[in-house]
Amino acid sequence: MPQDLAILPDEYRTADEDDLEKRIRAKKEEFGKKLLILTHHYQRVEIVRMGDRVGDSYGLAKIAANSPDAETIAFCGVHFMAEAADVLTAPNQKVYLTNATAGCPMADMAPTGKVYDAWDSIESVLGKNKVVPISYMNTTADLKAFTGRNGGLICTSSNADAAFKWAYERFEKLFFFPDQHLGRNTAKKYGVPKDQVVLYDTRKPGGGIDENTLKKARVILWQGHCYVHTKFKPEHIDLWREKNPKVKIVVHPECPEDVVDKADAVGSTSYIVEYCEEAPPGSVIAIGTELNLIHRMAVTHKDKKIYELAGDTCPVCSNMFRTTLADLCYTLENPEKANQIVVPDEIKKDAKIALERMLEIGK
Ligand code: 13P
Ligand code: SF4
Repeated sequence: MPQDLAILPDEYRTADEDDLEKRIRAKKEEFGKKLLILTHHYQRVEIVRMGDRVGDSYGLAKIAANSPDAETIAFCGVHFMAEAADVLTAPNQKVYLTNATAGCPMADMAPTGKVYDAWDSIESVLGKNKVVPISYMNTTADLKAFTGRNGGLICTSSNADAAFKWAYERFEKLFFFPDQHLGRNTAKKYGVPKDQVVLYDTRKPGGGIDENTLKKARVILWQGHCYVHTKFKPEHIDLWREKNPKVKIVVHPECPEDVVDKADAVGSTSYIVEYCEEAPPGSVIAIGTELNLIHRMAVTHKDKKIYELAGDTCPVCSNMFRTTLADLCYTLENPEKANQIVVPDEIKKDAKIALERMLEIGK
């Protein structure tokens, strides 16, 4: 953190936007190819404008892995994304998370110790090599390492289907964490019957799942969720369809099953962006994901009508929103004091195995 409470020096906090943009551009000019600014689709529009690349969590991990010239990667996103970039890059490359407080509450719902305990408890019933962990990208590097060590892989919302296929070609059962909704939606798409999908409740012994049910289960879900995507309700879709029968509904797969079931299309943040790009002029689209992405789509595609699925109650990811131009400028001008993300080597090794398996299966 730059200083106590991660508060930036006044010189940055009170600088106006034009000044900050000019200074960021000057640093980009100075460093050329040695600097790479990565921005996630949920970042503020002015951050995306300053970035070299924008993408979903899969795309940004892949870009980081394939950018050996970038000695400095300034990551405008959340903590787990910057960790993944550090794992996938060489030791001479430094990855910075431009706002040190930008975490992911969903990732925090899977503390390492609790996942280990659950795994031990599951294996004590099923035995070894029956079940494989699939970790959603939204986890700590520690859990990515756990996944790599136990024969599993990482997935994102853009390749969860491919991850299920990969895993079922090798194992009978999947332990999927932390997003129960992505896990449930993917299991359904894959054709796993509902009664073979169980939810592990860490507050109960054995996850609250009796041995017979666990033995029959094909997917064991962790009880995590995203507070942004669980705000969307099927009633929002009904209201939109009533209001405009022409509307197309596109949602992120972190939304609950009853929302995903009613949508016209489901996919990662990059998928949603492509959906908006490819829709014919005059299209009406209501999107179920984070507000900043929807707003950017609405202002980018003025020949289409793009709206928030939940109207004025559409949620913002406050962690993504934390990153400001001041944070980015501070990081580029003060790398020695900025928030470098360093995953310890012993964690990196196994986390890399799991992340590389993800990159191998593609999208
Ligand atoms: P994407 O992989 O679709 O960018 O999603 C990341 C995320 O955190 C969505 O909430
Ligand atoms: Fe985490 Fe949800 Fe924010 Fe994505 S939108 S970073 S899952 S809190």
